[in-house]
Amino acid sequence: MSESWRGINNLLWLSGLFEGLMQTTRNPDGCGLVWSNTTQPNVGYGFQDTVRKSGDVLYSSILFWQACAELSRIAESSGDVKTSTWLRGLAEGMREAASARLWDSSVGAFRASTKVESDHVDVWGNALAAHLHFATEEQETSIFALFQRRERDIFYEGQVREILFPEQWSEAWPDWSVRSYQNGGYWATPHHHVLPFLARHDRAMACRLLNATISSFRGHGIWEWVGPFWPSVAHGAPGYVASAANTRAASRELACMTL
Ligand SMILES: *[C@@H]1O[C@H](CO)[C@@H](O)[C@H](O)[C@H]1NC(C)=O
Ligand SMILES: *[C@@H]1O[C@H](CO)[C@@H](O)[C@H](O)[C@H]1NC(C)=O
Repeated sequence: MSESWRGINNLLWLSGLFEGLMQTTRNPDGCGLVWSNTTQPNVGYGFQDTVRKSGDVLYSSILFWQACAELSRIAESSGDVKTSTWLRGLAEGMREAASARLWDSSVGAFRASTKVESDHVDVWGNALAAHLHFATEEQETSIFALFQRRERDIFYEGQVREILFPEQWSEAWPDWSVRSYQNGGYWATPHHHVLPFLARHDRAMACRLLNATISSFRGHGIWEWVGPFWPSVAHGAPGYVASAANTRAASRELACMTL
């Protein structure tokens, strides 16, 4: 593969991805964060297809930020310094805006959004922020302290709640108001970022939670999510591949057998 061919291919690839990324709705005030219309709130990303948030939103902003950083690296490797620098600036601006608007120093974590659901900490979003270094080192230390302090309000059989127990989303789909699904069920799907982040601070804790998840899988099955009231019927879809795959990814990264 010649260098010139690689360069052209990267640029073409970049132009399509770049255009796609720029279709994302961001705050019209120019702060850079991904935005859910405050007069017509949307359901966003983050395994939250029943949760409406509005204003600046944490989870989708982190994904946008990550995409900017990756595209910036692609642009750089194909010699497009201008695009690369612009994307890096955009990404850095988003981190600063998130710190200013979404960080809650009284809780020591990021809030889920700035309007609808701003009262809640987005547990998975905070783990993702820490895992990807969207959070500063100081913020990451504080997020880890929250996971440590509130372990019993976050985990059940090793699996992870989206918000801190006993909170529930205020605008979730009404069918899911009984501590289930995205409004209080416990999920293994975010393990590929939750467990490696925890392991950076306390590998024994991460391995203990991984172990609990494996025991739950062996004893109760691999579900989309599980409810807190075994042996009730509180669980999601059976044989859920993302739960298995993402826990396996965490298991490979943690290598707990060598602890
Ligand atoms: C937000 O939604 C309202 C109502 O649908 C619409 O009029 C407005 O243009 C939207 N704002 C943006 C920035 O998309
Ligand atoms: C892992 O779980 C098993 C039960 O499935 C238990 O015997 C073992 O002590 C656990 N190890 C850790 C490190 O938690």
